[in-house]
Amino acid sequence: MNTKQLKVALLGAGAIAEHHLKAIEATEGFVNGAIVDIDRSKAEVIAAKYGIRAYVDYKEMFEQEKPDVAAIALPHFLHLETALYAAERGCHLMLEKPMALSTEECDRIIEAGRKHDIRILIGHTQHYMAENRLAKQILDSGELGELVMIHDVRHANYFQQSRPEWFLTKEMSGGGILANLGAHSIDKIQWLTGSAVHKVKASVSRHGQRGNVEGSGAVYLELENGIPATIMQSGYLGTARNETEILCTKGMLRLHTGNSLWMSKGGPYEQLEVPHNQDAFELQYEDLLAAIHSHSETACTPEYGRGVIAALEAVYRSAESGTEELVAEG
Ligand SMILES: NC(=O)c1ccc[n+]([C@@H]2O[C@H](COP(=O)([O-])OP(=O)(O)OC[C@H]3O[C@@H](n4cnc5c(N)ncnc54)[C@H](O)[C@@H]3O)[C@@H](O)[C@H]2O)c1
Repeated sequence: MNTKQLKVALLGAGAIAEHHLKAIEATEGFVNGAIVDIDRSKAEVIAAKYGIRAYVDYKEMFEQEKPDVAAIALPHFLHLETALYAAERGCHLMLEKPMALSTEECDRIIEAGRKHDIRILIGHTQHYMAENRLAKQILDSGELGELVMIHDVRHANYFQQSRPEWFLTKEMSGGGILANLGAHSIDKIQWLTGSAVHKVKASVSRHGQRGNVEGSGAVYLELENGIPATIMQSGYLGTARNETEILCTKGMLRLHTGNSLWMSKGGPYEQLEVPHNQDAFELQYEDLLAAIHSHSETACTPEYGRGVIAALEAVYRSAESGTEELVAEG
């Protein structure tokens, strides 16, 4: 058994940082090593809390700390340069979703990963959420017959004051609500069905008070296995909602990811007991650690992460062209 503690350095002390730090701390085999943020005060607060060193310059951090793993939780436009920099130093990667700004950028990360023989896990957390896992188990068991369609609805106040500006700047984020929350929806639909998105037809609106990204999206998708799905997202004011309805020939599931799972086999929906599950971020780090030790692929490969970006590119092409668009093959 390999007992060496692998040192993980986290890039980004933002909203999602502590989910990573706690999961790293909880994973036997990983140890928190350093935190980097251009905002020194944010890095220092985290550093003091976790007893690690703070840096403002990621290059200096790599030089000083020589981490085994880099966890990248930075604005999307920085995923490519930091992933390449880490890969060149032989660091394994936990790279947050969405993988990068374009499939071309994803290809460069994939190539670097192969060249430097590192393991990469893309942080598509949907695969690790307890309600999602139970839903997939039920679907895979055949208990509900044939899957016929999926409707995914997500509303959130996307332009709230607390949202950092980069999220609302297309050049930095890759897009608005669809690039950020839509990436989760595409991932969820692909993972639940085991089938990639094949073609899409999308409409978006841009009425946000800030930034230059879309604030809503209505997307019709067809998967490679022929299953149709919809993603409806509004980032304007209203009531938050996160619901995925999965319709099959012998019943249906209503999935509130992170909250509850409901099933109907003819009558009203009944709530299912969701087995206690480990934290999704801990499961991600366990996957990465297992892949490092067995020198195998992670459960969420960069090729898969690229597929989500390819689907998003087709969504934005369709919103622009007004016609159905095929997802470009990798
Ligand atoms: N898996 C999930 O459920 C989930 C949830 C939230 C966010 N995310 C993803 O995590 C990533 C980070 O999101 P967030 O919400 O934490 O963003 P955030 O804006 O809160 O944090 C990003 C941090 O990066 C810092 N930063 C910017 N430029 C830098 C640089 N050059 N060097 C070092 N630090 C720099 C910022 O100061 C900020 O503190 C994104 O990819 C996002 O999509 C994933």
